[in-house]
Amino acid sequence: MTEDFRKLFGSSEGVRVYRAPGRVNLIGEHTDYNLGFVLPVALNLATYIATAPSGDGMLRIYSEDRREMRQWPVTGIASLGRARHWTDYPVGVAQQLIGAGFAIEPANLLIRSRVPEGSGLSSSAALEVSSALAFLNGRALPPLELARLCQRAEVQFVGMPCGIMDQYISIFGRERTAVEIDCRSLEHRDVQLPAGVTFLAVNTMVKHALARSAYQERVQECLAAVIRIRAQFPLVESLRDVPPDQFRSLERLLPGVILRRARHVVTETARVGQFVAASEQGALDGMGALMVESHRSLQHDYEVSCAELDFLVDRALEIEGVFGSRMTGGGFGGSTVTMLRPDAVPHFRRQISEAYEGKFGVVPAIYPCEPSAGAGEVKDF
Ligand code: GLA
Repeated sequence: MTEDFRKLFGSSEGVRVYRAPGRVNLIGEHTDYNLGFVLPVALNLATYIATAPSGDGMLRIYSEDRREMRQWPVTGIASLGRARHWTDYPVGVAQQLIGAGFAIEPANLLIRSRVPEGSGLSSSAALEVSSALAFLNGRALPPLELARLCQRAEVQFVGMPCGIMDQYISIFGRERTAVEIDCRSLEHRDVQLPAGVTFLAVNTMVKHALARSAYQERVQECLAAVIRIRAQFPLVESLRDVPPDQFRSLERLLPGVILRRARHVVTETARVGQFVAASEQGALDGMGALMVESHRSLQHDYEVSCAELDFLVDRALEIEGVFGSRMTGGGFGGSTVTMLRPDAVPHFRRQISEAYEGKFGVVPAIYPCEPSAGAGEVKDF
């Protein structure tokens, strides 16, 4: 990467490389902005940024994926508006850093992303977090502040009202463990995954256009549910505060669609705890069953799945050695995550690819989900 950096910018003196991973969420979908629990793992698919001072007052960013260079005088960064362009992510992060009291130094950046865009594996958060580290270039910011700052960049500048999961796991990911995040307290704990299973992400290779507007709609629907519940139960501040066994008694407060959205969030939040317990007991069938319940709830109650995701899940469940499967991430395309026996991986790959290509005419990309370390500087290149 330093060699490519030198070719692009003429010199690689003082270059440093930062890495921020994508993620796969094992369970706890659309619960983060409801202040519930999530259980993601950081992947070894990551975004890398090489950076060195430019010395000429300019910030230059080159995206290898887009083969595109953009540049601005650093003095102009604070006043840039949203451009509906990939640069919104780094620029949004730069503005948040300025707001937090960090000057953006004149620098050149080369972005190399190994998190496929639109895969539902959180390429946006990987770009935000790696950009933040590149802009800071060694200056310290507490990790939780970093996660919140990157989330704010996405919400306020990019205009996507996401929760904190993706940025958080990109920073707090750990090798060999999943991370259970409490999206209210913003604390986490590492969760040991049982031996004898492995997880694979299967990419539908589609991202339906309504993904963003539907996400915004779901956020609003959850707020509407909270407002109605709170009118009678003032202590309920988010759907996280509704225990599943009390949900039935609240049903009469909620009109049809809102009721189904809230039911997903309430049951999904509970499923995270059940999945963690099952994982710690090595209850593989129980874990698999919870993944499938999660998918059905996202499919029928939350309505964020799509034909491609449903097909991958249904087909996966017919393959020998599979414990469970579900969509992962925001939905409307992107990827599924499947839990299976390691010895089933070769025939799973073959059978799921053949079936998906036969139905949709596209070969799905398949990625191993090896829990990996969170973001940081890459020193051993
Ligand atoms: C996207 C958002 C996350 C989360 C998931 C759904 O990935 O960025 O904050 O809400 O969707 O669980």
